[in-house]
Amino acid sequence: MHEDIKAVLITEEQIKQRVQEMGEQLSKEYEGKRVIIICLLKGAAYFACDLSRAMSIPVRMEFMVASSYGNSTSTSGSVAVRLDVADDIAGMHVLLVDDIIDTGLTFAKVKALLETKKPASVKTIAMCDKEERRKNGMHADYVGFTIPDEFVVGYGLDYAGDYRNLPFIGVLKPVVYART
Ligand code: PRP
Ligand code: MG
Repeated sequence: MHEDIKAVLITEEQIKQRVQEMGEQLSKEYEGKRVIIICLLKGAAYFACDLSRAMSIPVRMEFMVASSYGNSTSTSGSVAVRLDVADDIAGMHVLLVDDIIDTGLTFAKVKALLETKKPASVKTIAMCDKEERRKNGMHADYVGFTIPDEFVVGYGLDYAGDYRNLPFIGVLKPVVYART
């Protein structure tokens, strides 16, 4: 474990197993369809890559950057798309992938934008779901783990840019964010 982590919430083994299950389920459901994973940078980078490799059907990969303004422990409510998809997604089945759904504002904004590009379908996938924080009734179509409202880092989740590469998801010690 890392010295700044209070407790491990989801182990590396649990993540691997869940990603494999999700990959297999998606491969069955999307068999024969043109699928494109859209990875929301930066948080989803680790999950989207692992999920794509857990799928046994051909999938494309695209990247977007959408960031909520404000400080790093809370969202301001406004989501800005800073990098849009480069490829044409018309007629494709989109899997919009993120590390976490929190207020739901990021998924709502990005999904609405993608739907204007005439894809065959858009579904949302989040590794973690902080259900109790939702502000807009948004739900993810596929969820890895529903988690409590604690400050979690690892497997893509950051605090001020750090801890994303931890292979597990853990709760950050409050002393770490009290420093700033
Ligand atoms: C975080 C996280 C999700 C989003 C979830 O991203 O990675 O994308 O916030 O929050 P929401 O449901 O309240 O919108 P952030 O904008 O901090 O950027 P990052 O992915 O680069 O860390
Ligand atoms: Mg993000």
